[in-house]
Amino acid sequence: MKIIVVAGARPNFMKIAPLMKELKKYPSIETYLVHTGQHYDKKMSDSFFEELDIPAPNINLGVGGGSHAEQTAKIMIEFEKVCIAEKPDVVLVVGDVNSTIACALVAKKMGIKVAHVEAGLRSFDMGMPEEINRILTDRISDYLFITEQSGIDNLKHEGFDPKKIFFVGNVMIDNLINNLHKKTDIVKKLGLKDYCLVTMHRPSNVDNKEKLKEILDIFDNVGCKIVWPMHPRTLKNLENFGFKKRLSKYVILEPQGYLDFITLVNSSKFVLTDSGGIQEETTYLGVPCLTMRESTERPITITLGTNQLVHNKKEILSAIKHLGSKKHSIPPLWDGHAAKRIVEVLEKNV
Ligand code: UD1
Repeated sequence: MKIIVVAGARPNFMKIAPLMKELKKYPSIETYLVHTGQHYDKKMSDSFFEELDIPAPNINLGVGGGSHAEQTAKIMIEFEKVCIAEKPDVVLVVGDVNSTIACALVAKKMGIKVAHVEAGLRSFDMGMPEEINRILTDRISDYLFITEQSGIDNLKHEGFDPKKIFFVGNVMIDNLINNLHKKTDIVKKLGLKDYCLVTMHRPSNVDNKEKLKEILDIFDNVGCKIVWPMHPRTLKNLENFGFKKRLSKYVILEPQGYLDFITLVNSSKFVLTDSGGIQEETTYLGVPCLTMRESTERPITITLGTNQLVHNKKEILSAIKHLGSKKHSIPPLWDGHAAKRIVEVLEKNV
C-alpha cells in the first residue's frame, strides 16, 4: 500500500509525528510525506520537524500565504501533480486547515481513497474557515478517524455510513505523551512564576480592531503576568492597529517550538486561548483552560476536561476567581495509542 501523508500548517505537524513513527513499522506500507508549505517560517514549521523527529518531507509544495482561495487553489494545483506522479492508494489528511481540504479534494476527484484524522468535530459556526474545511473534508473521506464521542454523533446525524467511522482516540495526545518527558528550561530561563499563558490568532479575535482592544483590556485585568507566544498574524494586526506600545507590560515571545510550548503550558497557572488543539492538551495535562470563542468543536474538553468557554471580561474574571474548582478527567482513548489504531485500520482495509 502506498500512502501520502499531508501536513501544511503548524497544528498539523504534532498530529503527523506519531503517525509517521507508526507507519515506519510496517514494511508493507510505503509512505510519502507532503508538506504543502502553508506555514513556512522556521518557528511555525521546521522546528517541529526537528524536535518531533518527523522525517524530512519528500516534497514541499512551497505554496505560502495568500487569500483562502489563492492558498487552497495553489495547494490543489501542486498536489495534483504529486498524486499523478506517485499514484498513492490513499491520501491521509489531518485536522481542519486549508491544506486538509485542498488535498482531500484533489485525491477524491482522482479516485484515490481519503483518510481524515480528527474527523467529525463541529463548532456549528460556519464563520470559521476551519468548520467549512471540516465538513467538506469529512463528506469526501472514506476513513473517518474520530477523537471523541461528539465526532461519532455528528457524523451519524449527518448520515454517514457507520462502517466508515473509526473511534481511535487522539494523535495529538499520542504526541504529547511521547514528548512529555522532554521538559525544557524555558520557564526558569524566562524567570516565570504564576503566569497566564496566552495564545490568540483566530481571525474573529485578532482581525478586528475593537475586538483586539477589548482583549488587551481584559489581559490588563487578569491579575497575573501574561506570557504570550505570538502568531505572525496577531503581531501584524497589533502593529497595524497601533497597539504595539501596549505590549510592553506582557512577556511577548516568538512562536515557540513544541517542547518549550508544552513546558510553558504545563507550568502555567492557566491558559487563555482561542486555539483548537490547546483545549485538548490542557485537558490531558489538567491545566485550566479558558477559551475565548463562541463555540468549541471539542466539547469533551468542557464536559470531561478543564476547558471553559468565556465570552467577555466579566466571565473571564469570574472564571479566574474559581480556577481549579472544576472536576476533570482524561477522555476515553486519549491513551497514546491512536496512531497505532489508525494504521491498523488502514492496513486491514485499504
Ligand atoms: C492556520 C489555520 C488555523 C490554525 C492556524 C495555526 C486555516 C484556514 N487556518 O491559520 O486553523 O489554527 O493556522 O497557526 O488553514 N504567516 C507567516 N508565517 C508563517 C505562516 C503564516 O508570517 O509561517 C502569516 C501569513 O502570511 C498570513 C498569516 O500569518 O498573513 C496567517 O497565516 P495562514 O496560514 O493564512 O493562516 P493562520 O491564521 O496561520
